[in-house]
Amino acid sequence: MCGIVGYIGKQKCIDILFDGLSRLEYRGYDSAGIAVLDGAEIGVVKAEGKLSQLKPLLSELPAGATRGIGHTRWATHGAPNTTNAHPHAHANVALVHNGIIENYLELKKQLTGEGVTFQSETDTEVALHLFVRELGRHKTPFKAIMAMIPQLKGAFSLGILVGNEPDAVYVVKQGSPLVIGAGRNENFFASDAMAIVRHTTRAHFLNDGEVGRITEQGVEIWDFSGNVVAPHFVELDISSASTEKLGFKHFMLKEIHEQPRVFSGMLKRLIDLDSGIPNDDELGLSKLDLSRIDNICMVACGTAYYSALLGKYYLEPAVQLPVNVELASEFRYRQPWLSKNTLFIAVSQSGETADTLATVKQAKEHGCQVLAVCNVKMSSIAREANVTLHMDAGPEIGVASTKAFTAMLLAHYLLSLGLGYKRKTLTISDLKKAAVLLKTLPARMDQAIDGKVAIEQLAAKYDEAANFIFMGRGTSYPIALEGALKLKEISYIHAEGYAGGELKHGPIALIDRHMPVVAIAPQDVYREKMLSNIEEVKARQGRIIAVGDQDDQHLRRLADDFIVCPHIADAGLQAMLSVVCLQLLSYYVAVKRGTDVDQPRNLAKSVTVE
Ligand code: M6R
Repeated sequence: MCGIVGYIGKQKCIDILFDGLSRLEYRGYDSAGIAVLDGAEIGVVKAEGKLSQLKPLLSELPAGATRGIGHTRWATHGAPNTTNAHPHAHANVALVHNGIIENYLELKKQLTGEGVTFQSETDTEVALHLFVRELGRHKTPFKAIMAMIPQLKGAFSLGILVGNEPDAVYVVKQGSPLVIGAGRNENFFASDAMAIVRHTTRAHFLNDGEVGRITEQGVEIWDFSGNVVAPHFVELDISSASTEKLGFKHFMLKEIHEQPRVFSGMLKRLIDLDSGIPNDDELGLSKLDLSRIDNICMVACGTAYYSALLGKYYLEPAVQLPVNVELASEFRYRQPWLSKNTLFIAVSQSGETADTLATVKQAKEHGCQVLAVCNVKMSSIAREANVTLHMDAGPEIGVASTKAFTAMLLAHYLLSLGLGYKRKTLTISDLKKAAVLLKTLPARMDQAIDGKVAIEQLAAKYDEAANFIFMGRGTSYPIALEGALKLKEISYIHAEGYAGGELKHGPIALIDRHMPVVAIAPQDVYREKMLSNIEEVKARQGRIIAVGDQDDQHLRRLADDFIVCPHIADAGLQAMLSVVCLQLLSYYVAVKRGTDVDQPRNLAKSVTVE
């Protein structure tokens, strides 16, 4: 989604800003722009499309400028064109914005009545004109910001350059994330630490309701009531190496390959594989009062939601408590039943998903204990939750989630062991059995990835299909949902995931010889039932692509095509292997179709608006 980057210092800033924006590209955007201050004059360039469209325009900016702001826009209000792109500028002020100003129409009417002419269709331009009006009345940018803020409703994280105060840039944080990075005689800010981590790892994450004045020498922060807030700088631990493709054609392929290493790291940190005893501190369990928990609620969006669906399969039998799994966007607007005895688990790779973040606040209001499962350490959800289980999967750049999904599954699985052991619903012998299998998991995952050549060949047979169905039962059912989501996200082929038993309740009407059906059929307790579902599809001439065990001859005979998935004697862990095969299938189908795999159309990596 929209990205912000800003700089003030002694270096020429155009390249710094452009590089920062390119590090935010993975978040998804459809236009971009940069504004710089040269003396007291503001220069702006903007372009529709990718940064490659903006690059030739950079020479129009004053080359020596040492302060500026940049933006990548993911269109919400108004088409993705140059006029609607940020920065918006007027009266020697330039402004970039992330979020949505909900009362913009009302404000626009008021400002139009006062004689303001709008160039764009955006809500952002309203904030610009409001600021310019208040600057005229109050004279200093700080006072103008303080006068503007109470008039805005919604989410508005802003970066502001003001020609008449060239020694400072201003930021406002409400809703969407903003981080300030401290350097020596220079300072940075961005909506995502990824944009600045190459320059500095000392960062202050602004809280909602804060305003910052950033100069070359330092940072001043106030809350929206004007009280001074002391910045709290922390060390970022994002390795910039993990934001490079390292020879892979796409970040998605690189991230698929990283999964065995991510698993090894997580296992080392989260469980003692010799004794089988989970590490309560790292899992976040030691900070929770588990004695009062009598139900669990898991909330997330998209892929994270599918991981939570699997979490229910892990947690319910292990902890013997009811586990409710919900989409954050639905949960936040109904009146959910929650109690002080609910363990609320929010799952989010980015930790910034607006709907999930809202449910965390909701759960805290109900007195629940909130555990976040996140991949970004200082993210909003991680900071809001009582305790966080950090996945530490490393930055995920591909918009289609792969390693974060499997890391979530492993986190939920280990959480089920840890909670089950604490609640005495699992014995030490249960843990030991699980640990024996967990030890072999990274190597099995490597084996699954080794199947990529065969999967690539198979993808070439199906890249022209118009529709796909994915089906699975038990722990393979959420995997079918995730497989379908992955395919539609990056190949733009319509795909649906179903529980095998549901097909005959409607979707079977879609089956004909043109319908590829991916059947995830490991050798688990559901196998016989899955075989019957496969027969039902075949009887209607559907084409079966089976994902199963190497030596499952029966399944091989039934299937039109076969994807070999390594076997592991635990249905919960098997799901983590099956999904790797589906990630590779989607990836190669998308590559054959020539789509933008890492930044699929219309999608954003982190959905910071509701
Ligand atoms: O950062 P989050 O895990 O909260 O993101 C949730 C979804 O937006 C995300 O999983 C989305 O569905 C991915 N593009 C899936 O590949």
